[in-house]
Amino acid sequence: MSEDKLKVWAIAGSLRADSWNEKLLRNAAALAPDDVEVHVSDLLPQVPFFNEDLIGHEPAVVQQLRAEVAAADAVMIATPEYNGMVPGVLKNLLDWITFPLFACAMMDKPVSLMGATPSKLATARAQSGLRQVFVYNRALVVPSPEILVNFAHDAFDAEGRLIDQMCVDRIAHHFAYLKKYARLNQMDEVALSS
Ligand SMILES: Cc1cc2nc3c(=O)[nH]c(=O)nc-3n(C[C@H](O)[C@H](O)[C@H](O)COP(=O)(O)O)c2cc1C
Repeated sequence: MSEDKLKVWAIAGSLRADSWNEKLLRNAAALAPDDVEVHVSDLLPQVPFFNEDLIGHEPAVVQQLRAEVAAADAVMIATPEYNGMVPGVLKNLLDWITFPLFACAMMDKPVSLMGATPSKLATARAQSGLRQVFVYNRALVVPSPEILVNFAHDAFDAEGRLIDQMCVDRIAHHFAYLKKYARLNQMDEVALSS
């Protein structure tokens, strides 16, 4: 773990101005314990379409994205669900991060997933899809507690504060596991390098 605090790089997979997932992520960042620092990235709107022909001379924003992820101890993603899947814009961003293959910035990183939707489906399928993406990146997705916010209009107040107490408690519980995985990961790095 770098310095004293666990550094978490976070992103919401929505370009929508009033995104529920952005709200969820910002609430999670505010609920982080004192020894966790969450940086919410605003790079998503700048990320171009993935094109394998650009590997080796990636746009500056992609290089910045990879550098920010590489400098973090863990990654946190709040994802919408479109047609039962991960949003294209988020998958596009993750495809850029996947390079260099098997040595990418996500490699071995603990990952927190969460999602919010106004419907009842709670983003379970999009989160499940992301777990599949991270198999390839060999990232360590926190298995549970899962953070699935449905009926978002009831879960947040008019100022965007998360008022669903069960969800608030789950986020606190989730951070405890994220820290545990990050510690295990750090111990493993020491063991592998010694
Ligand atoms: C084309 C389309 C497909 C959608 N499909 C799903 C879906 O499969 N599951 C779901 O929970 N919500 C679905 N939604 C609702 C989105 O979850 C909702 O628009 C949500 O607010 C988007 O996330 P955001 O608020 O962070 O931008 C869909 C919305 C659109 C426009």
